[in-house]
Amino acid sequence: MSDDIIIAPSILASDFGNLSAEIAAVDRAGADWIHLDVMDGHFVPNLTFGPPIIAAVRGASKKVFDAHLMVSNPDALLENYAGAGADIITVHAEACDHLDRTLGRIRELGCKAGVSLNPHTPPQCLDYVLDRLDLILVMTVNPGFGGQSFIPAMVDKIALIKDMIGDREIIIEVDGGITPETAPSVVAAGATALVAGSAIFKGDGEAGYAENITAIRTACQ
Ligand code: DX5
Ligand code: ZN
Repeated sequence: MSDDIIIAPSILASDFGNLSAEIAAVDRAGADWIHLDVMDGHFVPNLTFGPPIIAAVRGASKKVFDAHLMVSNPDALLENYAGAGADIITVHAEACDHLDRTLGRIRELGCKAGVSLNPHTPPQCLDYVLDRLDLILVMTVNPGFGGQSFIPAMVDKIALIKDMIGDREIIIEVDGGITPETAPSVVAAGATALVAGSAIFKGDGEAGYAENITAIRTACQ
């Protein structure tokens, strides 16, 4: 089962002064996807980067670019994220007045469409958009910062979402506080894509990142 696990290192925890080199290093270290945390200082208190930076680092890796938009008005720049090279665009359900339309637009742009849910958001808000979705990103911390503690109540939510999606080909991704200790419980509940920032970008460069990725994979076996 762990052979199918997708590891998506969050570059939020990397050295922003060497972003292209960090992405190339974590790619060689065994990352499946590169997770890009876009924050606008409004939907979440923190600020990170947007389409120009994503475009600038796109050449550092051929892996899937997984853009997680923690922004208040994602519709305004969807074309820009697609144009910058995002393969998956994930918006927050809480930030979209017209989620059905937004998801349709992401697919029109040729990207996979994801929806993220804050810890307090019930999964039932996705009941009528399940056929518009490629991925559900369950926040296992309150979004905005790396290095926070995993919220255990999210394990039941993941299991509920797994039941909801039935035989649809929707990936369940988790984000926040994922470590070798917390990963097994989310995988057992149905998550197959694991975002991890601080648990991967620690240690001695590429060799350390490889060990950290392997530790998460091994823990899920
Ligand atoms: C939180 C971000 C996460 C964060 C995860 O708002 O969406 O991707 O970087 O960081 P860790 O793995 O350190 O909790
Ligand atoms: Zn994220």
